[in-house]
Amino acid sequence: YPTERIRNFSIIAHVDHGKSTLADRLLELTGTIKRGHGQPQYLDKLQVERERGITVKAQTATMFHKYNFHGTEISEGQDQPSFLLNLIDTPGHVDFSYEVSRSLAACQGALLVVDAAQGVQAQTVANFYLAFESNLTIIPVINKIDQPTADPDRVKAQLKSMFDLDPSDALLTSAKTGQGLEQVLPAVIERIPPPPGKSGSPLRMLLLDSYYDEYKGVICHVAVVDGMLHKGDKISSVGTGQAYEVFDVGIMHPELTPTGVLHTGQVGYVVSGMRSTKEACIGDTLYHSRSVVEPLPGFKPAKHMVFSGVYPADGSDFEALNHAIERLTCNDASVSVTKESSTALGLGFRCGFLGLLHMDVFHQRLEQEYGAHVISTVPTVPYIFEYSDGSKVQVQNPAALPSNPKQRVTACWEPTVTATIIIPSEYVGPVITLCSERRGQQLEYSFVDRYQESDLVKLDVLLNGQSVDAMATIVHNLKAQRVGRELVEKLKKFIDRQMFEITIQAAIGSKVIARETISAMRKNVLAKCYGGDVSRKRKLLEKQKEGKKRMKRIGSVDIPQEAFHELLKVS
Ligand code: GTP
Repeated sequence: YPTERIRNFSIIAHVDHGKSTLADRLLELTGTIKRGHGQPQYLDKLQVERERGITVKAQTATMFHKYNFHGTEISEGQDQPSFLLNLIDTPGHVDFSYEVSRSLAACQGALLVVDAAQGVQAQTVANFYLAFESNLTIIPVINKIDQPTADPDRVKAQLKSMFDLDPSDALLTSAKTGQGLEQVLPAVIERIPPPPGKSGSPLRMLLLDSYYDEYKGVICHVAVVDGMLHKGDKISSVGTGQAYEVFDVGIMHPELTPTGVLHTGQVGYVVSGMRSTKEACIGDTLYHSRSVVEPLPGFKPAKHMVFSGVYPADGSDFEALNHAIERLTCNDASVSVTKESSTALGLGFRCGFLGLLHMDVFHQRLEQEYGAHVISTVPTVPYIFEYSDGSKVQVQNPAALPSNPKQRVTACWEPTVTATIIIPSEYVGPVITLCSERRGQQLEYSFVDRYQESDLVKLDVLLNGQSVDAMATIVHNLKAQRVGRELVEKLKKFIDRQMFEITIQAAIGSKVIARETISAMRKNVLAKCYGGDVSRKRKLLEKQKEGKKRMKRIGSVDIPQEAFHELLKVS
């Protein structure tokens, strides 16, 4: 596949807005997995993901899709060109945003999925900015339009006001009913640029992820940024300086599918002689041994917010736990691990996590995937203590703090965050209470839809020189002329000719900006009935009365109700 026919994209969204379901549908649509494969959320492979219904690990799948790019001419008998699409599913929860930013490093575009009823939520905002900072092309997808409470127009307005995304770019879908899904892959191919790498340059691969497989050993997920990789190649790691031979190389389609080669811009897997996932440092650059390359930027190290002790439930299981943690941290590089010991629990580990959910998921995975039974200690944030001898230490374990009063603590610091909380106005009160319960200080408070100075004018409508207050509008000066013109034209259409001439004017102050006249007409409903029978006359008079009821007399001019309705449409 030449790079022009490769697209690497990711799906980002707030929790539960339908990323994994949409990913499933795209895999089905391209025949990558069978429809009704009986396994919902194909990319949520881990047991913990299925049980909790959340995505924890970013997964990649390669799909092939035939598509006529930009409507290019295709001669008869010739097939539509096939595109290779790498879809990277990402977690939605804030604790796993580390996984999101890693996935985005291999992408040029992202589908920003927003629930049509819930609208933009906290993680929509956070994930949008992650994608935006990575210079990705963003395709807004308003999903779940099948719901009775779906309000796609409101979501479009949010996308415009919060992210300056063009509402006409938004795709409307239901991953449940399949509505609108046919537009998704064409939009991916048309709007997202191909990967920018150079196929003629020396090989540079970004190590995206790794895990340990009982049979194959360490499996690395890589993005080939420049050059090409073949089975049998000798590769080296910038991080460790170690060299390996490539035993197997291929794509995730969606299971590991050997291809023998990976081209520039492709995302795939590599099995080399790595013995432990410790050697496979996520964010590392791999290159052809003996070539000289500039390392790729890599990833920002994870910032650990919560620490807790992890001990084997049975002290003698320390080695088994050590092994399990080693394996698992290779798959989840955002956990920090140091050995520690406790008088009560024996040998164990102090682990740092990105948040409480991350910690919970780590414990659950240890148990489910490695059969390790653990006792974990109360989580704590890292504090800094200064002792009277002037020394300063970071304390991640309460036990490390001396109870000895001689070594007096002179000062202590706790971590804080500067958070921007975006919420609907009805929740402001409870959220402020919640923040103050956690000793939060309010630094600034503002409305997203803030007021801005504007050049506004009052546009009056005058009928026979008399201004009609109910028809006055406030408009921007630049639009006044057009709106004035439309107003008087509309009114002319809806006001019937009357016994006298009517002038309709739109004016700003004393300046008339548009004018129309309706010429006089003698209107006599009975005119046709001279000599006619009386009951017919009465009927007509009744009808006229009826018509009058729906009229509003302004000054001497009768205005039908529809005229007022029509005026609302002018803006
Ligand atoms: P995380 O993986 O936890 O980040 O969630 P997610 O964004 O992947 O959401 P997921 O695909 O798991 O969908 C959440 C729920 O919404 C599931 O119960 C889906 O069945 C449902 N859902 C997804 N798409 C649609 C849709 O178009 N319409 C309706 N009505 N429900 C949908």
